[in-house]
Amino acid sequence: MWSFVLSNLLVRGFLQLLCQVRSCQNNSLSNLPSIHPYNPPKMRALLRSTKALYRPAFPSPSSSRTLTNMSSVVVDNVRSTIVNSMDDKYAESSDLDREFLDRAVRLCRLAGTTQGSNTIHPLVLGEDQINDINPFDLVASDMRKLNGQIKELLGSDHPVLETVAQYFFDVEGGKKIRPTMVLLMSRACNEDAVARGLMTGDVAPSPKQVRLAEITEMIHTASLLHDDVIDTADSRRGVESVNSMFGNKLAVLAGDFLLARSSVCMARLRNLDVIEILATVIEHLVKGEVIQMKGIKPNSADTQIFDQYLRKNYYKTGSLMANSCKASCLLNGENYIIGGGSGSGSGGSGGDGDTTTTVSDAAFVYGRGVGAAFQLIDDILDFEASQAELGKPILNDLKQGLATAPVLFASQQHPNLSEMMMRKFEAPDDVERAHDMVMNSDGLLRTKELAIEYSNQAVEAILKLEQSDSRDGLVKLARQITDRKM
Ligand code: FPP
Ligand code: MG
Repeated sequence: MWSFVLSNLLVRGFLQLLCQVRSCQNNSLSNLPSIHPYNPPKMRALLRSTKALYRPAFPSPSSSRTLTNMSSVVVDNVRSTIVNSMDDKYAESSDLDREFLDRAVRLCRLAGTTQGSNTIHPLVLGEDQINDINPFDLVASDMRKLNGQIKELLGSDHPVLETVAQYFFDVEGGKKIRPTMVLLMSRACNEDAVARGLMTGDVAPSPKQVRLAEITEMIHTASLLHDDVIDTADSRRGVESVNSMFGNKLAVLAGDFLLARSSVCMARLRNLDVIEILATVIEHLVKGEVIQMKGIKPNSADTQIFDQYLRKNYYKTGSLMANSCKASCLLNGENYIIGGGSGSGSGGSGGDGDTTTTVSDAAFVYGRGVGAAFQLIDDILDFEASQAELGKPILNDLKQGLATAPVLFASQQHPNLSEMMMRKFEAPDDVERAHDMVMNSDGLLRTKELAIEYSNQAVEAILKLEQSDSRDGLVKLARQITDRKM
């Protein structure tokens, strides 16, 4: 008798739960507002409200046992419906947080005043201890083997394809910042895990982490092969560009081949999260290039233009650095919490008061900050360096019709620049005039200050890891990025 009553109650409870979850699903999913994919604040608000609605189906890891008591079919159903409907937009919002952009846009507003400068050079704790560290020395032995190993990965029974794809890996040019960062980050994460008693043994980058460094360089090089075709560039890394040497068609195909081989290597890492992250990076590279191509919309406000420029930088440069740093931590097996969030964007930990930072979040924020700083300095060097120093043409951005940070800041002192920006510097003498205006403004200085601001964000994030030479090497690298001359 009692067992009958009890089982009856259980069945009823289950049916009620099923109805609640179903009605929740119907209500909220049909009501999802359509939102523009580039709108992280709206997306976050939407995610928060959706998470609240579905809280029973989104247990935190600690309450996951409760979940197993519910019908896994119902739960999976609900979860996959949400994930499928929001995946793309979630990917948009999760790594480009508002604060990351706002800090720069605020500086853009401050341009022309003296307020900005005092606030953006804080000395970061521990920085005085890193003077003797050379980040490149720390990973020199792995880096020496990098080009040779990539060439092996690009072996093909088609001699022309092999020659074109391997072309850049035969020359010693190129800064190799990305694989250097991945190898340093791998070591720093491994050392952090050992210091916290979560891992034992060797802290050197594992074979998978070394392979990740190679994949990162292959993806980057593939994007440059395509970029040089788009930009009709005739030199790269101090030598003739692939398109100029072998023609556009082979340059595009060699880029595709590099991407294909890097995809096979990714799959062989046997880590679905890492595959997803790196595939998203490839999407971001394409998206960044398209945003750049679309140019500035007429009548946009200064801050909108700046916002779009920073997004483009994230997609073209920051995403690969941020996500490959994150992937290097995920490859050591454990992603664990290392502290409370700083509020400067954790690239993964979500809303609802959840401000925890995991080791891979810190790695992500580091890579994102270094990427942003790196691109800003690149944009300065396009004005300041010589072709011989850069190994590629100078004033290229203006010639391509691009308004980068030095121009955007300078336009606040020289309003004529705005008209030139809108017509993509295409009128006679536009490039020369724009160049003179930038040189006679504080545009380059402001850009450098912004780069330092992002480098500070990177340093702040990585200092959450336990102290090690590799971690300090990452701090030093973030500093060197803002001082580089080539
Ligand atoms: C350099 O830009 C280019 C990039 C950082 C990425 C370009 C991406 C694509 C062409 C999309 C295709 C992507 C893949 C993965 C095949 P730049 O012209 O500003 O810099 P530069 O002065 O070094 O040429
Ligand atoms: Mg280019």
